Amino acid sequence: MEIDVFTLFPEWFGWLGEQRHVANARAGGSTLDCVNFRDSTTLSGGQVDDMPFGGGAGMVLRVDVVEAALRARYRLDPVALRERRRVIALAPGGRLLDDAFVDELAAEPALTLLCGRYEGFDERIVEHFCSDVVSIGRYVLAGGELAAMVLCDAVLRKLPGALGDERSAVEESFSAALDGNPEYPHYTRPAEHRGWRVPDVLLSGHHARIEQWRRERSRERGERQRAERRSGASPAE
Ligand SMILES: C[S@@+](CC[C@H](N)C(=O)[O-])C[C@H]1O[C@@H](n2cnc3c(N)ncnc32)[C@H](O)[C@@H]1O
Repeated sequence: MEIDVFTLFPEWFGWLGEQRHVANARAGGSTLDCVNFRDSTTLSGGQVDDMPFGGGAGMVLRVDVVEAALRARYRLDPVALRERRRVIALAPGGRLLDDAFVDELAAEPALTLLCGRYEGFDERIVEHFCSDVVSIGRYVLAGGELAAMVLCDAVLRKLPGALGDERSAVEESFSAALDGNPEYPHYTRPAEHRGWRVPDVLLSGHHARIEQWRRERSRERGERQRAERRSGASPAE
């Protein structure tokens, strides 16, 4: 997979690139490149944003600046680009990133991520250049970089060879293997700490019973989550 992140802070992604699963994905042929909007802006002083028409606080990322950055990278009209690869604007109000959506994105050959800052994007960027608008949660971050890193992290760890043990990505929270439920609890040594004992079944060596116990705990957690959502204690999806 080829991931390009457009941002005003490309250096932040150095840390992400050093993470084991990301390095493994890269060793397997995937790429994670950053492009700075400022590198291709034709405006003086590296300007990339402007005041919002109609007034209001904050600055808005300019459509001409984003177009120049996409053209410089892909040598293509950005209106046509989204037919060739997913072009994703990160925004709090976008489609919520969940495990099924991560699977969908992980199946793509290439992704382009646009990180907003300040007040966000000129709406024409989203309307004309983007195939998707993605949110990592119903709260507002200062910029799209952390959201892009969350998306990259979640997507890249799904790629073959990214995790040390392929089984890790198969049976985990929200996966189809667990019917979309959260994962069951894990325990390790010591078997007892301050009187808190690990459930006997996990020490029994009886694989079928362990499997059944895990499924039940996972299902219970899912039911609890759904009840919390119904009662308003957890946000709706
Ligand atoms: C301060 S936010 C802009 C918020 C915008 N004015 C609003 O109210 O929706 C700046 C940028 O951070 C990113 N961002 C903030 N929260 C996000 C979230 N929950 N998911 C994805 N991106 C987010 C977006 O790229 C956004 O353009």
